[in-house]
Amino acid sequence: MDYMQRIHTAAEAVEKAIGKAEIAVILGSGLGDFGNELAEAKEISYADIPGFPLSTVQGHAGKMISGKLNGKQVMMMSGRFHSYEGHSMQDVTLPIRVMAQLGVKKLIVTNAAGGVNTNFSAGCLMMITDYINLSGKNPLTGENLSAFGPRFPDVSRAYTPALQAIALESASKLGIDLKQGVYCWMNGPCYETPAEIRMVRVLGADAVGMSTVPETIVAAHSGMEVLGVSCITNMAAGVLDQPINHEEVMETGRRVRSDFAALLTDVIGKM
Ligand code: HPA
Repeated sequence: MDYMQRIHTAAEAVEKAIGKAEIAVILGSGLGDFGNELAEAKEISYADIPGFPLSTVQGHAGKMISGKLNGKQVMMMSGRFHSYEGHSMQDVTLPIRVMAQLGVKKLIVTNAAGGVNTNFSAGCLMMITDYINLSGKNPLTGENLSAFGPRFPDVSRAYTPALQAIALESASKLGIDLKQGVYCWMNGPCYETPAEIRMVRVLGADAVGMSTVPETIVAAHSGMEVLGVSCITNMAAGVLDQPINHEEVMETGRRVRSDFAALLTDVIGKM
């Protein structure tokens, strides 16, 4: 099956099981259960979507859910695909094309990230204002899918200013100290070295992580508006005199979950 056929086949299965939506959310590590807050929820496991890859990371359940939240019909991805799992860039971003096919116009991407900006601390939420791609990969490599967008898309406003304004307004209303910054995509799966973190700080990064940028690029190429929010689950390598481990990342994710969920719920109501 060629890639366009895979998109269409998967979209058909998803639509049949959970319908369509204009707003979608990708749930990063720790936020996986946010889908439980959807009313009249319907779901489909990735394993039941023809052509979908399978997520292998702990804390990523692997299903698409749709339902109502704060008055809006929303589609959520619980579990995403990462390049470090061995998935191709096309597999990592297949769900975004499927969403585009199903009418998604606005996408919220969330993730767990390491704090590079020394004014941050573990547990901060950071709205992504821009990205740096240091992975050496790009999901638009190969034949352009002109049904979705142009060969050379502009990504200078990939994180939509209007959605950023909404997020800041919601954060202020809820009393959440929403930081802002540049997210740097590193391939992983190693956490970075202290030297790499010093390097990306010089380059202008405020946070570092192993996801989100491929989905952002494909969403922007598909003409979607994108909002990105990182949960700073740990300070990046070398910032503090302590090792980084996945358990700490998951634990911080759980600690700030209620603020994160409140922020997203309010933002979705205004989208
Ligand atoms: N680096 C990369 N990805 C991450 C980190 C980190 O420190 N924390 C959570 N995801």
